[in-house]
Amino acid sequence: MDPSGRADSGGRHRIDTSVAHSARVHDYWLGGKDNFAADRAAGDAVMAAYPGIVASVRANRAFLARAVRFLAGEAGITQFLDIGTGIPASNNTHEVAQSVAPAARVVYVDYDPVVLQHARVLLTSAVPGTVDYIDADLREPDKILGEAAGTLDFGRPVAIMLIAVMHLVTDADHPYELVGRLKAAMAPGSYLALSQVASDIETEQVAEARRRYNSLARETQQHRTHAEVTRFFDGLDLVPPGVVTVPQWRPGSELEARAKSSMWGGVARR
Ligand SMILES: C[S@@+](CC[C@H](N)C(=O)[O-])C[C@H]1O[C@@H](n2cnc3c(N)ncnc32)[C@H](O)[C@@H]1O
Repeated sequence: MDPSGRADSGGRHRIDTSVAHSARVHDYWLGGKDNFAADRAAGDAVMAAYPGIVASVRANRAFLARAVRFLAGEAGITQFLDIGTGIPASNNTHEVAQSVAPAARVVYVDYDPVVLQHARVLLTSAVPGTVDYIDADLREPDKILGEAAGTLDFGRPVAIMLIAVMHLVTDADHPYELVGRLKAAMAPGSYLALSQVASDIETEQVAEARRRYNSLARETQQHRTHAEVTRFFDGLDLVPPGVVTVPQWRPGSELEARAKSSMWGGVARR
């Protein structure tokens, strides 16, 4: 990365290395290289309060891969809108989807300038013309849906992925209305896959981790209960086993099922 920490000179995409950002802290927990001292300090502070964080983040990535494999396979989905993409790691959505359905189209959306820098990698590692990237904020769903319509046909089923992002949208930003707007754009046969940090699992440790994160990071985390996470799926039919801790969502092995996790997740069909 450019040591000056700037992606361009325009301000809009300025990378602020002085304060932790979720994409880079997440990258740190996953063992990546796209993080700065402030991100590592926040990551370590969270880890000290909740030592299960690294296992939990890994279990969430595994959930993402299993959900995409289910969607592209059993559910027959060939269009994906992945909002809150993160810095590329292993098993990115298009890699998993295209390993099952080679013609699958994926539109990635993130608002972080470091993720934007990686967009070219995401785009060029795919079958040409099948992957697009939108630099946008989840709190502007109409902008996202309008731009994504250049690649995805919303008249046909689509999978909307909100993986480990809704805990970065506080109630002040009306998260249920935002997700409602996205759900309204989904044709019958579409799916919503969503996971977020729980407020009712290992409650004290995770709450302390949240307090530390919020004091050191740009975004404010809001954790939610099982009932609050389930509410995001209102109006849709939850695919069994419903909203569960992410390792419990169709685990591939006993070992995977036993992974430590403080996140609720699920997949539902319209
Ligand atoms: C914890 S990472 C999750 C990455 C990936 N989905 C995963 O589960 O591995 C959260 C990502 O959401 C992005 N994000 C957070 N709030 C957002 C918003 N309001 N609009 C768009 N992206 C957002 C962050 O920049 C970051 O890349």
